Amino acid sequence: MNRSELARHLMPPVRADAASWELFHENSKAGRHDDYPPVEVINQRMERMVQSLDFDQYPAVPLPASGEPAAMPLAEAIAARTSGRSMQPERLSLGQIATLLHHAYGVTRDNYGTRFPRPFRSVPSGGALYPLELFLHTSRVKDLDPGIYHYNPLRNELRSIRYGDESRQISEALVQRNYAIDASAMIFVTAVFERSIFKYGDRGYRFVLIEAGHVGQNLALTATALGLACLTIGGYSDRAIDTLLGLDGLWHGTVYMAAIGAPGEEDVVDDYGGGGLT
Ligand SMILES: Cc1cc2nc3c(=O)[nH]c(=O)nc-3n(C[C@H](O)[C@H](O)[C@H](O)COP(=O)(O)O)c2cc1C
Repeated sequence: MNRSELARHLMPPVRADAASWELFHENSKAGRHDDYPPVEVINQRMERMVQSLDFDQYPAVPLPASGEPAAMPLAEAIAARTSGRSMQPERLSLGQIATLLHHAYGVTRDNYGTRFPRPFRSVPSGGALYPLELFLHTSRVKDLDPGIYHYNPLRNELRSIRYGDESRQISEALVQRNYAIDASAMIFVTAVFERSIFKYGDRGYRFVLIEAGHVGQNLALTATALGLACLTIGGYSDRAIDTLLGLDGLWHGTVYMAAIGAPGEEDVVDDYGGGGLT
């Protein structure tokens, strides 16, 4: 029995009738005696894993190197951010999309001279492992055909996965169905869980979700600073969205979504009868 197994063995057992979240929370606790793989093993594993899915066989759409500037001061953007539930069906520019994606999960600095084997991104990441991927659906962006795209932060480009307006199918996969229909773009935050789990075990799953929150906040603040509405969405049918994106839902699955669009005239917040997912 190694030290982590021994520490776990000495812990009081979780109740037999514990809910899944209790079991998960208990099992993903870190302890002083946990063992992690040695740095060489971690780096070897990371070298074998791609930094970003490449979708090389799909058509590339380069993003403008300098997107639309998000000039609003940070304190103002934080104060002004709301969940925008009413949107006008207007077209965004490719520059606005480039800014949103770059601030959400783009590469911000290189890793030369550091002990980390990957260039760094706009959000913190446990072990700098960057387990997330971003996909985009749009039917309203100038110079982009309606369809589903994947964002590659290393190349600052999109790959066109499938053409066609799928707003209705996306909308139907949401708990609050009508929210996405007037959005100009829907951004899907997906996770290749193994990229964090191989090092951190169950706790890596916590990290993946925490990191998706960082991305969501960057998206919301950037959208606000660009004068756009943003609704971050956790109420969606996982299987429907994973199927739409062609993900197996286990090795690689959707963990968060954000609808982005031109702000509507009224932003009505309802209480979903007190029983919604929000
Ligand atoms: C993890 C998470 C999931 C959410 N999911 C939804 C959703 O599915 N539908 C929705 O209308 N709002 C969703 N929201 C938005 C919340 O309802 C909203 O943040 C909350 O009412 C506070 O309002 P504010 O964002 O305008 O400050 C979500 C927010 C978070 C953080």
